[in-house]
Amino acid sequence: MIDGKAYGFFLKNSHGMEFSIKNNIMTIQIIGGNFDMYFFMGPTMDDVVKQYYKVIGAPALLPYWSLGWHQCRYGYKDIWEVKDVVANYKKNNIPLDTMWIDIDFMDGYKDFTYHPQKFPVPEVKKFVNDLKKNHQYYVNMIDPAISTTKQYGPYERGLEKDIFIKDKYGKNFIGEVWPGKTVFPDWHHPNILEYWTNEIKLFKDYAMTDGNWIDMNEAANFCNGACDTPYEDAPFVLGEFNPRTPPFAISHFGTGKDRASLKTKNLDMDATYYGGLIDYDIHNIYGHMEAIVTNKALLNIDPVKRPFLLSRSTFPGTGKYAAHWLGDNHSEWPYLYYSISGMLNFQFFGIPMVGSDICGFVDNSNEELCARWMELGAFNPFGRNHNGLGYDSQEPYVWGSVAEASRRALAIRYKILPYMYTLLVRTHTHSEMILYSFAGEWPNDSKAAGIDKQFLMGKGILITPVIEQGATSVTGYFPEGIWYDWYTHESFSGPTMKTLTAELVHIPVHIRGGYIIPTQGPSLTVYENRNKPFELLVALDASKKATGRLYLDDGVSINVNGKFSEIEYSVENGTLTGKGTYNYDEDQKLHEITVLGVTSQPSKVIANDKEVSFDFSKNTLTIKNLDISMNADFTVF
Ligand code: NOJ
Repeated sequence: MIDGKAYGFFLKNSHGMEFSIKNNIMTIQIIGGNFDMYFFMGPTMDDVVKQYYKVIGAPALLPYWSLGWHQCRYGYKDIWEVKDVVANYKKNNIPLDTMWIDIDFMDGYKDFTYHPQKFPVPEVKKFVNDLKKNHQYYVNMIDPAISTTKQYGPYERGLEKDIFIKDKYGKNFIGEVWPGKTVFPDWHHPNILEYWTNEIKLFKDYAMTDGNWIDMNEAANFCNGACDTPYEDAPFVLGEFNPRTPPFAISHFGTGKDRASLKTKNLDMDATYYGGLIDYDIHNIYGHMEAIVTNKALLNIDPVKRPFLLSRSTFPGTGKYAAHWLGDNHSEWPYLYYSISGMLNFQFFGIPMVGSDICGFVDNSNEELCARWMELGAFNPFGRNHNGLGYDSQEPYVWGSVAEASRRALAIRYKILPYMYTLLVRTHTHSEMILYSFAGEWPNDSKAAGIDKQFLMGKGILITPVIEQGATSVTGYFPEGIWYDWYTHESFSGPTMKTLTAELVHIPVHIRGGYIIPTQGPSLTVYENRNKPFELLVALDASKKATGRLYLDDGVSINVNGKFSEIEYSVENGTLTGKGTYNYDEDQKLHEITVLGVTSQPSKVIANDKEVSFDFSKNTLTIKNLDISMNADFTVF
């Protein structure tokens, strides 16, 4: 940003690179490849993002249910424990859409298998059927590394097709991941899609997942280079290029003199892919290529439904194929704070469906931290509570206050799902974002530029989370405009700093004057929520205007065949209109309209030519018991 104008710079290169900033000068050191540079001239942050997405591809069209709440952990001991978790969510009235199972389900941590005692297939099937009955979803893990166990189908079939990465001697490269010794699929191989589709299909025939999680895809390796042919790096010789000892070793597990060899926890740099490509050149796109191939495999298996994939490793453009989480964080306060800028960055990076491991992954979480994290987590585009192996349970119902904080914050999330889904779809169709930073939204406000503890969900909802231990209030910055408290509807004008009380179970949320938020529910699942009447929350700005929009479709089809509706709402001169194109047949009606910032009581209210009753108090006009179709234009004045 310079003088309120945004610009972007993209260096497209898959090689190892190191960035350093000293005295306001950034140095970029790259160890090979092309030097493709793009400059995006903005001039707004939104423009830069659009220009960048044009180069890398707009984000995937994801299913509506993926906006619901997700629960996971590494270390669920068996399928019965997983079932208990789903039941406990329900018992405690906490929303849950998707239950995840980490590598724990596998037999010896081998991909595409179920542990016969802990996760017996008939029990898993029952579990999945129960989820389906409740319109809930199931996602599980696929790691790229394939165990070298003899007579293990995925390994044997891979050998037959010869689709694994080779070492410099031409034999399959052997690494080590969870199942022990492994080989690695070569995503560049012409037969890889057929292989991967077949493996996922065979697995899905009895696993019935609604989505998959692709992890350890950097690719991670527990050995330093090949496990079976360890070697010492030969010293660098001037004039001779050796990928194992490049003239400049980027910072990798350590900096300066301590930087480790590039093979550390990695493949060897001369591990070879189809066509002679070596890991030195394409290491950084291993996860990206896996996302592409896995996305295509899921579409091969089911060409109708939108695939849902979550990938740890990403590259510019991965958002076209997968969502992302911010990786292994710690159950510590600073990580709660970092998650905000992490999510905002990924809006720019083209993977707006992003979130952190809520309540923290490494170490034990605690009641206060988890309550605050669930509150902020309710506004992560991808909202998933995830815990590491061996740490204390941290599902939201484990502590009373966390359960209450979760119910309250998730009630807001589920209520604004129609708004969030509209944002999600527009990332795909209009290269927009889900979350917005203050810096981008108020480029000429120098105070806004430094705000990294608050953010906007869409442009109409401002989140001010408590991210400090022991705090019962939080001071936030509210830029120019009118701000309405979500809970009390009280308003104040910005720009101003404001200290808000926030007891442990409360997260401050404000609606921005000038915005109309379509809502539904709240319920405990996306499905139930979609079967609730619609409401509109209209927040007037100083000139008594507001706009908003709603997008509707079936939420699951990759191609909706034109069956979608787009409604633009607007208030001007005391008249609210909804105008749109209506090709999705929505059963639910618009039942309620709340208008914030109405200064004088109207003498009467007419909705679609009919006089209707209303309440008016404290500058808020509420019109209940409406029966307005969602499939036609309407007017209320
Ligand atoms: C590493 C991932 O980052 C983490 O989220 C996961 O739980 C473990 N692998 C085990 O699969």
